[in-house]
Amino acid sequence: MERVGKSGNAVPLSAAVFGSTGGIGRALCQELADRGCETIHAGSRSGADIGVSGAAPFAFDLTNESSIEAAALSMKDDPPEWIIVATGVLTLESGEGPERTFKRLDAGAMAEVFALNTIGPALIAKHVLPLMPRDRQFVFAALSARVGSISDNGLGGWHSYRASKAALNMLLKNFALEMQRTHKQGVIAGLHPGTVDSALSEPFQSNLPDGQLIEPGEAAGNLIHVLGGLGPQDSGKIFDFAGKVVPA
Ligand SMILES: NC(=O)c1ccc[n+]([C@@H]2O[C@H](COP(=O)([O-])OP(=O)(O)OC[C@H]3O[C@@H](n4cnc5c(N)ncnc54)[C@H](OP(=O)(O)O)[C@@H]3O)[C@@H](O)[C@H]2O)c1
Repeated sequence: MERVGKSGNAVPLSAAVFGSTGGIGRALCQELADRGCETIHAGSRSGADIGVSGAAPFAFDLTNESSIEAAALSMKDDPPEWIIVATGVLTLESGEGPERTFKRLDAGAMAEVFALNTIGPALIAKHVLPLMPRDRQFVFAALSARVGSISDNGLGGWHSYRASKAALNMLLKNFALEMQRTHKQGVIAGLHPGTVDSALSEPFQSNLPDGQLIEPGEAAGNLIHVLGGLGPQDSGKIFDFAGKVVPA
């Protein structure tokens, strides 16, 4: 990672963002490009061109492992230095929102949240991590959430979302331990972006304290700054937008 961005931290020359049409994912592509990242693989369900310089679109679906495998294979000759998984759901496409009480649990909805927030990112790791170099640093990061922290949970609710992110955090730790055996310089991390103005947070913004909601561009800049400062000793941890470790 030779390039140093505006922040003074490392910025990769190449990256892949899974979830490039999301609020945070698109902003990550834009900020990476603005900071000098030359090649950005920008993945979404539609495979849409997001209009960011240097961004090459590709299509994948978290619920279709073959599409993830094909996306990873398309990067195998020149694997990106950073892979960021910026996908995720809080409200399902059916309109079913996060459960406030266990009385609202529905097995199908719960399985869908886990498929999208936990299993999909894990399958991306399954197909992308084997491409990573053993002799230099790489970063694999997935957007998690502070509410996935068990020790930090003082409020309850949002059962499937919280549990799916806690499970994602466990998998990231497991993958970090496994990769450390062969890829000493690898970094695998989870990220909490803060409360970001996006389609995901939009239904829950009305009661936020003033100043808590941040714009996607600012959030993306924060996350890139955090990732650029990480080293192998940080692998397996979850970081918030200020670079502080989120406890398990
Ligand atoms: N916004 C916040 O305040 C906040 C706070 C904490 C954590 N996070 C986390 O940050 C991440 C990004 O959130 P966001 O705010 O950017 O949400 P968003 O704007 O709703 O974006 C969600 C992304 O997930 C993708 N996605 C959903 N289902 C998919 C599928 N089956 N296959 C492939 N992609 C799929 C969407 O793709 P399409 O464009 O194809 O729908 C979109 O790119 C999530 O993991 C979220 O939990 C966000």
